[in-house]
Amino acid sequence: GLKKKEVHVLCLGLDNSGKTTIINKLKPSNAQTQDIVPTIGFSIEKFKTSSLSFTVFDMSGQGRYRNLWEHYYKEGQAIIFVIDSSDKLRMVVAKEELDTLLNHPDIKHRRLPILFFANKMDLRDAISSVKVSQLLSLENIKDKPWHICASDALKGEGLQDGVDWLQGIQY
Ligand code: GTP
Ligand code: MG
Repeated sequence: GLKKKEVHVLCLGLDNSGKTTIINKLKPSNAQTQDIVPTIGFSIEKFKTSSLSFTVFDMSGQGRYRNLWEHYYKEGQAIIFVIDSSDKLRMVVAKEELDTLLNHPDIKHRRLPILFFANKMDLRDAISSVKVSQLLSLENIKDKPWHICASDALKGEGLQDGVDWLQGIQY
């Protein structure tokens, strides 16, 4: 059959935000794993949509591994940035990491699409995706297409909306 176009995606965000859980849910059910553990370094994962084949660099969000992220920026054609919507204490840390990312020379002048997941919307403490985008000042991102979705990665809710958006971008 026809070979789908391959797109390299970087999955970034703080530790415990739900990156690996989200990527796992995007795989076909027979390829999903049951036990998800904190990522060490990074892991390369793949999932397909009707028209594209995504190769995901699922990075560890732990502080000691965040310096690895930048080594993959040149490779990335899109970014998935995951936020734990219930972690109000670390929202400012998530913003700092996002700002550092956006100002990096390998990212700054590229029209890279960024898909944000305001994840863990199922938790009682979770703030809305509108509030998350305000706290992260997403309205200041003018030179890149971006989109934010509220998600519950455990149930898989909100993920398809995000993937549909990623698939609609011209790579
Ligand atoms: P690192 O690999 O350490 O950077 O973390 P990560 O961002 O990959 O997070 P991971 O997917 O390992 O999830 C961390 C924890 O959050 C796990 O216990 C998940 O089950 C849980 N989790 C992920 N998504 C959700 C969600 O939408 N709702 C709830 N309630 N828990 C979630
Ligand atoms: Mg992980």
